[in-house]
Amino acid sequence: MSEQTPYKFNIDNNREILLNLPEGVFVPTGTTTNLINAVKGYLKEPGKVLDLGAGSGVVGIALYLNSLVKSPLYASDLSERSIECIQKNAEIHQIPVVTKTGSLFEPWNGNTFDYIVDDISGVAEEVAALSQWFDNVPCQSGVDGADLVIMVLQEASDYLNPGGVLFFPVLSLSNSERILNTAHQHFGQVKLLRHEEWPLPKEMYQHNDEVAHIMKSNMGEALSKNYDVAISDDEKSVIAEKKLRDIGTAIEGVGYGDGYELDDVLQGALNHLDNMANWMLHEEYSYLCFKGIVPRTRFMMVGFGWEKHDYSYCQEQDLSPACS
Ligand SMILES: C[S@@+](CC[C@H](N)C(=O)[O-])C[C@H]1O[C@@H](n2cnc3c(N)ncnc32)[C@H](O)[C@@H]1O
Repeated sequence: MSEQTPYKFNIDNNREILLNLPEGVFVPTGTTTNLINAVKGYLKEPGKVLDLGAGSGVVGIALYLNSLVKSPLYASDLSERSIECIQKNAEIHQIPVVTKTGSLFEPWNGNTFDYIVDDISGVAEEVAALSQWFDNVPCQSGVDGADLVIMVLQEASDYLNPGGVLFFPVLSLSNSERILNTAHQHFGQVKLLRHEEWPLPKEMYQHNDEVAHIMKSNMGEALSKNYDVAISDDEKSVIAEKKLRDIGTAIEGVGYGDGYELDDVLQGALNHLDNMANWMLHEEYSYLCFKGIVPRTRFMMVGFGWEKHDYSYCQEQDLSPACS
């Protein structure tokens, strides 16, 4: 395992802990801190704890150091590198730990816990690929980022003692609605313990700008194509005119009813297209997309809410040729 300079991580406002963090092991983030604080704020007494998708082991270690873990700490991860790292970090902090390598609950067959803290990768795979969070760290969480956490939610009660609690983060970079619906199906009580917001990393803003460029180009093409058909004798001219007016309305935010000439609609829309803000494109493009007026882009913009582009239903033939 390649060594790295010990990494300092704030487990609360006044306590910093040292972690060994080799390459390929997840570097703790704001979600890590939020999760630790949520669990600390909720638990009143120590219990048998499983840190699932433990990465460096930071969450379990922080809980142990806050006297919320009945020794030993249990931790697992899909990545062998993580397991070696957790053992090393537990040793640094003199924490007895039982570690296992494997996917989801598979290593814990026949075991039960008082508290399970699940932090298995939960952002959409494409978002993970854009970000630097998951360099060489497994994240097969599906197109909407919810697959792994949903499997955990479906199985967790088999691994909890009576009265036990499952803690899990819900990230806006995943299909949070699907996750929460599943949580409600499987648990009598689901509580939001903490909520935090952060700005997106800069590479995601770049991604959004690239998607915006593609969306604008697709909308420009759709405007011209529908205009040409609308002014022709083609039997589809009425449908094309309707589509042209819909695109104009989406771009300018004002209704383009029958009172406007087609030339006005086209010119007005083309003049405003370049100035559309990304949040507005995200809203309006998806509306046009669901109406079949513009093609789907290969991936949505990030950070504006999942439901506008539910790409879990996306088929290869839906994809915009501009993005393939
Ligand atoms: C977001 S990181 C969280 C790590 C740690 N809790 C932290 O905050 O630093 C997600 C972890 O889930 C692990 N993981 C991904 N897929 C998994 C799976 N199917 N089963 C178990 N762990 C998995 C990754 O290797 C990674 O260490």
